[in-house]
Amino acid sequence: MQTAYTIEQLRAAVADAVRAPSLHNSQPWRFRLRDGGIEVSVDPARRLPATDPSGWGARLACGAALFNLRLSLAVAGTPAQVRLRPYPADSDVVARLVPDRPRRPTPTEQSLHGAIAHRFSNRAPFWPDPVPADARWRLGEAAQTEGAWLELVIGTSAVAMVAEIARSANRVLERDPAYRAEAAEWIRSEPADDGIPAAAGGPKSEPQDLLPQRAFGTRHRAPGRDFEPEPLVAVLGSPSDATTDQIAAGQALQRVLLTATDAGLSVSMLSQPIEVPGAREQLRLALGRYGTPQMVMRIGFGQPGWPTPRRSPAEVIDLAVPQA
Ligand SMILES: Cc1cc2nc3c(=O)[nH]c(=O)nc-3n(C[C@H](O)[C@H](O)[C@H](O)COP(=O)(O)O)c2cc1C
Repeated sequence: MQTAYTIEQLRAAVADAVRAPSLHNSQPWRFRLRDGGIEVSVDPARRLPATDPSGWGARLACGAALFNLRLSLAVAGTPAQVRLRPYPADSDVVARLVPDRPRRPTPTEQSLHGAIAHRFSNRAPFWPDPVPADARWRLGEAAQTEGAWLELVIGTSAVAMVAEIARSANRVLERDPAYRAEAAEWIRSEPADDGIPAAAGGPKSEPQDLLPQRAFGTRHRAPGRDFEPEPLVAVLGSPSDATTDQIAAGQALQRVLLTATDAGLSVSMLSQPIEVPGAREQLRLALGRYGTPQMVMRIGFGQPGWPTPRRSPAEVIDLAVPQA
């Protein structure tokens, strides 16, 4: 049995890991080999102080990247055993992966891995077709498999309540000039390997919109092409809100997103009601759930789109490794 990962295996797995989503496509991750294990860390240079002062978003993004790493290694026949927060004194190190007993990848691992390159945030209006019951079930199961819960918000009044919480959180955030400036800094009108390309920003918000869009969109929508009136809204949550819960929630988020992609569904994420503490608590109470909401999603059938750019593995792998 292999006891240490090689640099080639690290490079191949990181090419999948970097496809994970992150706040403003900030890609707040670093990867390295240390004593034969692959380590994933938050990149302190890529924190978003105004949008993500606690580091919640960076930990979710690193958790999502970790899920892709796990899939990639499993599909290559070199599955990993994972320890979250392996060094209590170094909170930036999110996870350490060491080779596990070799086994064949499962069909689910293969199909989720196949979805990595096709997943993207779709901020455009979706078609009105409802999400079928079996797909809804698969999404909930995906969250549970990673130790999280997924609450599908059912019924017009329940969706209206979640939407109102999200809109009021958005108003709170938009009042802060530093938050607005930080979001604007990540919108890209020229080709770049991070940030949000203007074309991926979705249409500009209009007063009739039920859910608040982040102000990434610069284009006006085609006449009559409004957002779907009854979107499928889902809230992903974790049992608690320790840093390890947030990393696990990132893995669950990515499993839900890839399951949706594999089922032909589109997703956009809305984290304003998670970022404002009062709104997050209101959301939890509105859902009647224990635990902590970690992400709100809009799910449906969308128009085709394109994955956004990423930095290459070489830019996010640290070769100079500290001694253990
Ligand atoms: C923690 C977190 C919070 C996010 N919040 C939002 C959001 O509020 N609005 C939004 O449009 N996208 C949000 N996103 C999606 C990112 O903007 C998106 O993942 C990133 O731009 C990369 O694009 P991709 O998802 O198409 O790969 C969030 C992603 C993460 C991981």
